[in-house]
Parts: sequence; structure tokens; C-alpha cells
Amino acid sequence: MANRVPLIAGNWKMNLDHQQAIALVQKLSWTLKDADHDYKTTEVVVFPPFTDIRSVQTLMDADKLELGLGAQDLSKFDSGAYTGEISGAFLSKLDVKYVLVGHSERRQYHSEGDDVIQAKTAAAFRHGLVPVICVGETLEELETEGQSAVPIRQTLAALAGHDNIGEFVIAYEPVWAIGTGKVATAEEAAAVCGKIREALAAELGEAVAQSTRILYGGSVKANNVAGFLRSTEVDGVLVGGASLDAEEFSGIARFLKHIAL
Ligand code: PGA
Repeated sequence: MANRVPLIAGNWKMNLDHQQAIALVQKLSWTLKDADHDYKTTEVVVFPPFTDIRSVQTLMDADKLELGLGAQDLSKFDSGAYTGEISGAFLSKLDVKYVLVGHSERRQYHSEGDDVIQAKTAAAFRHGLVPVICVGETLEELETEGQSAVPIRQTLAALAGHDNIGEFVIAYEPVWAIGTGKVATAEEAAAVCGKIREALAAELGEAVAQSTRILYGGSVKANNVAGFLRSTEVDGVLVGGASLDAEEFSGIARFLKHIAL
């Protein structure tokens, strides 16, 4: 895994109200505490819906939890007459560190194209948030364009034309593997993550490529996570369904134990 600290990210999607969110975060932190989880060795971050964020932040702050906080989306604008939008400025103010950008469900159901994703990435940088840029091909694209063409194209499009590139994370999530129970093989995931890193090196230089974490996502569970993270190319996982269960998600966060076996 090189020198990059692995990132275990839980995308709750549109699940759990603020009370359920508090219960899950408490259970997750207790479970990880019981297991003596070392957050410096493996970072663990939850991405609740917007309406939960203030409650989760208050809990994390009061109990000095080491879990990190992320948001699932942000506006490309900073403020103004944009009904229903959430500014990155508001997220920063709530100690949110990470924000998902370009998740395939946003690309698919909200027609977000590369231009919108590039603008949202810029907004994240402006507000000191770390964008987790999600990329991945559909089954049709896999058949017509091959394994890594689409993820590379989407990565470079999101990162094009910024004056200031801050820290960012890439999450490779093959669309055909999200919520379907179909998983990419560990070899496929490692190959695509490796190709994305090569593209980052060519575009932004070797130092950026070597310090950037590239995650795999798509039907990750406690019983398959170790396979992905055994590769030095894969620096963590973006987890949907399995992040809603404290035991399962903490099992994923403790992947190093499985690798050591
Ligand atoms: P999944 O979702 O783990 O439920 O497949 C992953 C994601 O969409 O980020």
C-alpha cells in the first residue's frame, strides 16, 4: 500500500435520519474502540445525508471521536439563489473534510456530466474540502472501450483546468458493480487503479500520483475487502450498502487483520 494511509469511506446514500445516524456512529465507534482500531493506520470516514451532518459532527466533537466526516455532494456555486443547493462553505463550517463528487448515481439520475463534476471539484478545492472523485465505466462502456479508458477520461476531466489543485482522492467504482453484488476481481481493480495512477503521473507529476489515494468501490464487504487491499495500487474502499451496518463496516475497516492472516 506504499506510504499512503488507507481510507475506508462509508457512503450512506439516502439512508438513515439524524437519530439513526447518531445511533450508527456511536455503535461504529464503540465497535472500533473494542477492536483497538488505530485510526492513524487506517482512516475511517462516514458520508451521511446532509440533514444528519450537524448531529454527527456534534457527537464526534463531544465524544472526541476519531472518525472522519464527509458529505455526499456539494454545489458548484458558493452562495446565492440556488434553491436546494448546499455550499461547500457550509460543509467546511461543520468540520466536513471530504466530499463525494461525481458518484455514478449523480451522473445517472441527476445528469451530472464532466463539466459539472469539474466545477464541483473546483468548489471543493475553494472551500478546503478533499473531493473524492468517483469514476467508473458501465457494462456497455466496458465492452466497447475496454477496462480503463472511461475511468481515466473521467479522472482527467474532473481535474482539468484548476488554478489550485489541493488534496484529492479517486474512487474507482465500476458502475456494473455498485449495489449489484457483482464485484470486480481484485486483479481488475488493481489494474484500473494502477492505470489511473499512471495517468495522474503523466498529467500532474509523479509526486501527486504517489501521494494520491485511489480507492475501489462496488459491493465491498468484510469478506472480500482484503483481496482488494492486498494490492499496493488500491489505497482503500468506498463502501455503500455495507457501511450501514456497524459490525460489517468495522470489519471492513479492520481489513489489515485479514491481510495479516
Ligand atoms: P455498494 O455501493 O457498496 O452498495 O455497491 C458503493 C457506492 O456506490 O459507493
